[in-house]
Amino acid sequence: MITLLAPAKLNLGLEILGRRPDGYHELRTIFCAVSLFDTVSITSCAESRVVCDCTFGSTPNLAQIALERVRAAAPSLPHARISIVKKIPASAGLGGASSDAAATLLGINRLAGLPMSPESLATLALECGSDVPFFLHSGVALGKGRGEDITPLPSHSPIHAVIITPHVIIPDKTRTMYAQLRAEDWTTGTDVESLAARLMRGESLSPTQQLPNAFRRPLYDLFPAVRTLAGRIEECCGAPVQVSGAGPSLFVLCSDVAHALHVQHALRATINRDIASVHRVRSVMATLLSESLDV
Ligand code: C5P
Repeated sequence: MITLLAPAKLNLGLEILGRRPDGYHELRTIFCAVSLFDTVSITSCAESRVVCDCTFGSTPNLAQIALERVRAAAPSLPHARISIVKKIPASAGLGGASSDAAATLLGINRLAGLPMSPESLATLALECGSDVPFFLHSGVALGKGRGEDITPLPSHSPIHAVIITPHVIIPDKTRTMYAQLRAEDWTTGTDVESLAARLMRGESLSPTQQLPNAFRRPLYDLFPAVRTLAGRIEECCGAPVQVSGAGPSLFVLCSDVAHALHVQHALRATINRDIASVHRVRSVMATLLSESLDV
């Protein structure tokens, strides 16, 4: 059996440049894997299947899709049972389903003795979803194209954050949120690219910096309660509230662990648990395979 810790991600800025001829949107983002994990266990088995301690609801079960795609691409691979224990809130802008899919691809390949090349895995990952290729790398990375064009970035000092996930259900979330974008939400991508250049030079992000996110306007317009929550978080923390992915998760960047602990305690005292969950995280740098394999 192989057990992988599949990390969540935050988007440290997400700009949409426009709609492409293939219907997808061209984006610039900085993905940052963080220390909130699903556990994905992979066992050789007579029949391939995915079991999870959760219901997927309207969330696509990307681990199931990954399993089907990898077995179609390499029928000689052994059948595998994928067991997922979910900790990452689903459909929340934190990439949980994508991370589970990447862990499935990496784990099956590992279990079979690494027959598939990184390029084949990257192709399969993109077939599962635009965010899946990032999770083959993990760490911090600039994402371009649909999100699959990944340039790893150094992170000399850890990035600390507190994530606030409002209990908002958005059916078919990613597609729905992309469909809400208007031309006025499109930008040039230069803000994210200059953030990436700063990280490349070894500079750190300032917690007081407002990161761009094209989904902030449609998220707040569609869900005024999320806008209100963001205002309360800002009052409580005195720091700007960031949006991860297409939302609805929000986060506050923190300067160090002590700051993050302070923010976490302040938010837990302020925010009703029926409205949102709060997680303190830090960036995780290594890939899934090297950091979290447990054989
Ligand atoms: O790639 P993924 O399956 O996650 O995308 C789900 C939907 O989100 C797509 O069908 C598309 O409508 C939208 N999307 C987009 N541009 C992207 C990524 C996703 O328009 N870069």
